Amino acid sequence: MNKLEQLYEGKAKKVFATDDPTLCIVSYKDDATAFNGQKKGTILGKGAINNRLTNYFMKLLEDKGIPTHFVEELSDTDTVVKKVTIVPLEVIIRNISAGSFAQRFGVEEGIVFSEPTIEFSYKCDELNDPLMNAYHAVALKLATWDEIDTIKKYAFAVNDALKEFWSSVGVTLVDFKLEFGKLPDGTIILADEISPDTARLWDSKTGEKLDKDRFRRDLGGVEDAYQEVLRRVLGK
Ligand code: TMP
Repeated sequence: MNKLEQLYEGKAKKVFATDDPTLCIVSYKDDATAFNGQKKGTILGKGAINNRLTNYFMKLLEDKGIPTHFVEELSDTDTVVKKVTIVPLEVIIRNISAGSFAQRFGVEEGIVFSEPTIEFSYKCDELNDPLMNAYHAVALKLATWDEIDTIKKYAFAVNDALKEFWSSVGVTLVDFKLEFGKLPDGTIILADEISPDTARLWDSKTGEKLDKDRFRRDLGGVEDAYQEVLRRVLGK
């Protein structure tokens, strides 16, 4: 399958058309940004690691009955996916307090919740991805109630599967962000990526951060953390 024209360039990925109108090619970049693009850098090898990890998890989730956009890995950094219209919501699941949750509510990081939480933000860079509830999303016709229900059901099922997987390789899944897409017939499927760019992953024994917070917070050892995550997954 060949890459035709570029359809979109995001902060961490490019999307290309293919000769099949129902499929696209996603190409993962080493570029890293934080704080809505205000902080920019490169994480060497990140594109290839995130491509591999995302595809590993998409396959795992398909096996658990969650429909995804994954079709076929083409190379280190490139993957064929189903063409979808992205629902403009960032869907965030949290198992432990961290990041913007800890800041917003003035609590420390590391509080283990008895149940996971879900939140949405409106995917809009100009507005800095504002927090949004389901009523707002329905009012603005970003999604219907049925779509919100499906998204919630899949997001919690993804959490159950990923929490169990990460725990089996000595990693605590703190929180993560998902994006969903719509096929032309209206079916909702999981899209985007699942990687240390979009999740908080803490070593279960030491609490060491193995994710993009190392870049966001200038903690050093960024490349090593991504490599370590890949090693744990491939060692499985
Ligand atoms: P937050 O605590 O900064 O809201 O982040 C929650 C989770 O979402 C965390 O795992 C990182 C991920 N995330 C993204 O994937 N993209 C983003 O733009 C942001 C802000 C967070």
